[in-house]
Formats: sequence, C-alpha cells, structure tokens
Amino acid sequence: MLTDNPALLDHWYVVAESDDVAPGPLAVRLLGRDLVVWRASSGELVAAPDRCPHREAPLSAGSVSDGCVECPYHGWRFGEDGRCVEIPSSGAGRPVPPAAHLPTVRATERYGLVWLCLGDPVADIPAMPAEDDDAYRRINSGVDVWSTSVTRMTDNFLDISHFPYVHIGTFGIAQNTDVPTIEMEPLDDDFIGYEYEVEVRNEQGAVASGLDGAVITRRMSTGFHLPFTVRSTIHYETGLDHLILLCSTPIDDVTAYFTFVIWRNDDFSVPGEEVIVFDRAIGAEDKTMLEKVRGVLPLEQRATVSVQSDRPSVEWRRRFAALLG
Ligand code: FES
Ligand code: FE
Repeated sequence: MLTDNPALLDHWYVVAESDDVAPGPLAVRLLGRDLVVWRASSGELVAAPDRCPHREAPLSAGSVSDGCVECPYHGWRFGEDGRCVEIPSSGAGRPVPPAAHLPTVRATERYGLVWLCLGDPVADIPAMPAEDDDAYRRINSGVDVWSTSVTRMTDNFLDISHFPYVHIGTFGIAQNTDVPTIEMEPLDDDFIGYEYEVEVRNEQGAVASGLDGAVITRRMSTGFHLPFTVRSTIHYETGLDHLILLCSTPIDDVTAYFTFVIWRNDDFSVPGEEVIVFDRAIGAEDKTMLEKVRGVLPLEQRATVSVQSDRPSVEWRRRFAALLG
C-alpha cells in the first residue's frame, strides 16, 4: 500500500475547510486513519484519533461544548491538547488514568483550510504570498471526495496534453494538441514547474478573464510542492492574475480529498461563487476521467510510457519516489 509508507506521515495535508469544523466534532480520514477534529476554547484546532480510549466509540459522533469534545457513549470529555478532563462515572476526586488522554496530531489552519500532519513535518505548507496582498481576494471551493489515487491527481494537474480531450467541454480547443517543449525549473522557493502559453476558449467571458474574445491567450505556470500540492498561475494580458492552489489528500490508496483555492487581483465585483463556477466545471471533468483509471499510478517510470509533454509528471514521480525512500 502506498499510503502505508511512513515517509508520508511527515507532511501536511488538507482534510477540511476551517468553516467545516467550527466547532466540531468533524470526522476526517487521512492515510487510512480515522480522526476527529474540533475547536478548543482557545480557538485552536485539536485533532486526534477518532476513537475514545474507554470503549472505542467514535468521538466524532459526540458533541462539542466549552471547547471539549464529549464522547456519546459514557460522556468522557476531552479538551485542549486532547486531555481527558472529565469522567462522569468517576465522580469528583478519582484520578483520570494517564492513558485516557488522546494522542493528538498536529493541526493548523492556512488559506481557510485545515491542515493535519500525522508525524513530524519535514516541510512547511507552501507559501502563497497573495494571501497577504490586499490586491488579491481568496475564494475557497469546498472539499470534495474523489474515488481515485492522489498520485493520479497530481500527475493530471501537472499535465497539459489532456486539455483538448478532457476539457473540451470547458476551455479545451480540439486542434491545440501539440505541447511545446517543456523545461522544468524552480518557479520559486516552494514550487518546481514550468511556464507556458496556452490558447483557451473564453467560455465564461469576462467573468473569468476580464476579456471578451472567443479564444484568448493565457500566460501560465504550473508546478508542484511535494508530495501532492500543485499550483497553477494564470496571467491575462489585462493584468489579471488568477492563482489556483490544488490540494489532494490521500484518504487511502484510491480515495482522496480534493479542494482548490483561488486568489485573484480582480475588482472583487463578481461574487466569488460565480468566479469559481468555471474552475469547478474543469475539476469535474478531471474527476470524471480519473475515476475511470484504476489503482495507483506506478512510480516505476518504465511501467508507463511517457513522452516529452509528460516531463512535469516524470519529474514529480522521480522526486516523489525519492521522498518515499
Ligand atoms: Fe467513550 Fe465510553 S466509549 S466514554
Ligand atoms: Fe485537467
């Protein structure tokens, strides 16, 4: 199982949006483990195995009050840092057994998203400077579950040769099948990728691009941050920047959470939900395709045939295989 690889424990993954938690408890699943997330009275997130240490009831089926999650079975309560703060059947004065405290995992919030790390993070969450730039607004999309492997998703998000096929219903142009030579390079400190120009159908008109033509040119970059985060930047000639962070999280080998976040330096006049209609439709096209492809993408390069347009994926696979050890 790919998701049993211990190296994957030491990275951050998105499991929900911040709004999904408040106050909790929220059940999530990461790398085959069931977890519960709630908000302590300090406002900090707490994440722990979704298993009460008393008789293994799922804490996510309980409730949160005063920053504590209460088990639905016998009412044990757990607060900040997962500490068991109350065992009703013990009355006052009887000590809480040390093993009653929950072994929490790291949890943090960034970009309106909840990120968890089951081990000791070896890399930070990738930086998106637009988050702190007043010229940009952030639009979150919600978290979806895809019945596919995160390896296939990352491969797909780095690939532009599927545009005229998979995305023919949105921005793809049938005759634009040729992919120019791709050179992989560090895009900045956090992402490795490539820059390119692509003609796209301007299906959504001025809402997405600020331009009116039927076909417009996008100046783009696409890159990855190990293990499974991909960023695409779109620059239009009007000066509009549309940045997309694509977050794929392994629920298990063949199931994943998917969410995307957008930053745009537009005039904020079009409601965010309207702006992302097009990106949602594009994501749905990828999802439909990937859910037809079985299993995990082989990491052994010779197990599949790659051509020049697959350079980004080949480079990602090489680095991802090295990360796995
Ligand atoms: Fe949770 Fe008993 S199983 S309190
Ligand atoms: Fe796609």
